[in-house]
Amino acid sequence: MDVKDFLKSLFRTKAVEAYQKEAQQTGLRRALGRWSLVSLGIGAIIGGGIFTLTGVAAKLYAGPALALSFVIAGFACLLAAMAYAEFASIVPVEGSAYAYSYATVGEIVAWFIGWNLILEYMMGATTVAVAWSGYFEKLLHLFDIHLPYWLVNDPFTAAKKARELNEAAPPFAINLPGFLISWLVTSILLRGIKETASTNNLIVFIKVGAVLFVILAGLFFINPDNWTPFIPEPEIDAAGNIHYGWSGVFTAATIVFFAYIGFDAVSTQAGEAINPRRDVPFAIVASLLITTLLYIGVSVVLTGMVPYKMLDERAPVASAFAGAGVEWATYIITFAAVAGLISVMLVMLLGQTRIFLAMAKDGLLPEGIFGYIHPKYKTPFRSTLLVGAIMSLTASFVPIVNVSELTSLGTLLAFTLVSLSVFILRIKRPELERPYKAPLWPLVSLGGALVNIFLMSQARKENLRAFAIWGALGLLVYFLYSRRKSKLHQ
Ligand code: ALA
Repeated sequence: MDVKDFLKSLFRTKAVEAYQKEAQQTGLRRALGRWSLVSLGIGAIIGGGIFTLTGVAAKLYAGPALALSFVIAGFACLLAAMAYAEFASIVPVEGSAYAYSYATVGEIVAWFIGWNLILEYMMGATTVAVAWSGYFEKLLHLFDIHLPYWLVNDPFTAAKKARELNEAAPPFAINLPGFLISWLVTSILLRGIKETASTNNLIVFIKVGAVLFVILAGLFFINPDNWTPFIPEPEIDAAGNIHYGWSGVFTAATIVFFAYIGFDAVSTQAGEAINPRRDVPFAIVASLLITTLLYIGVSVVLTGMVPYKMLDERAPVASAFAGAGVEWATYIITFAAVAGLISVMLVMLLGQTRIFLAMAKDGLLPEGIFGYIHPKYKTPFRSTLLVGAIMSLTASFVPIVNVSELTSLGTLLAFTLVSLSVFILRIKRPELERPYKAPLWPLVSLGGALVNIFLMSQARKENLRAFAIWGALGLLVYFLYSRRKSKLHQ
């Protein structure tokens, strides 16, 4: 093969029409209506982000202007959401960003996106499992139940705790709550999409209720003096990092970006939606707009209740209420977080297995494992089991608390490439029917790409390095396996 053919093969594309044909016979069960899809979006979005990251973001970077950071991050997501929505209306398939880029820019880019979506979905769900374990422990503490530290931490973290306590390291340690919750979520997913959707609906009801409670009850404890100065004067620390000022507002926006992740997972449910071309685009945008409003409400209330420099970094929302003397609110918030994080994991794993399914259908992953659909439950059974097993073992034994930024990077890259793909498809195939069209072309798609690249550039260096290593590993797998097995190649 000469160089030209080689390059051409890397960028081979799968026809939009082939996807549209596949979409008619997914093998999955079409059970999701418009509002179930919106609920899945909200189920994936509202999670640890709003209950924890708000503390650091406001205290160290944005001050009372935290709400502005949420507006900025929400705007970046909205641009990407419109790109996702347009694509979902053209190619309503479970492969989401992976499939969109396969239909436009080509195989290697599609593979690369699929690979990075592992960071968003599987890795995202695993970090949430560990975070869940932390909230669960807090909930138990509220009822005066204390588990030994070697039962709620991975061996590395447990050894660290032992050193702090001047004890010998325990012979065995496991994050048992993380292990158990991973299997609970997996078992719901295995049962079927209907069971998944109804569990999700219940959880969304609880957590939206809790967020509304925070906003409405919090109103009574606001001291408007806490909002001035709204954007504090910039300060530079010893390491040269800028806090507050507009720069701080932007840094806080990249931190709270994590709180928005999840709306895109709705697009992976296109194969299970009753009316995907209309309802999936609606649900992507609607779930994002609803949560943006809720997040702005929480930010305004939180920074009004507590002077920003006194916010708690680990549990800012619960602590704000405890500080105001409303101890019982801590129970509501902790319980809502424990329940709420379950649906984040649910939808993320759902998304992960659907992306794998799409990649297996194209031959890029082993079809026997990732493409197998259970005849009775109509779920990607083996893939769900495998992903669940990896998640449970990682959550139990690996110290992965601080990888949320890596999850954000994988997501931002997907957002960037989907925005660019929408732009390319408008030029390549202007005649395609688009039930939903992103407005203000090409501003929205190019703007979406630029804003997301900018947010990526704000990540910390060590995370960018880890991200590059992950990408290189992905290319290795592509050249050693997927490229040769690709159905387009054969
Ligand atoms: N948006 C999700 C969360 O905040 C990932 O937990």
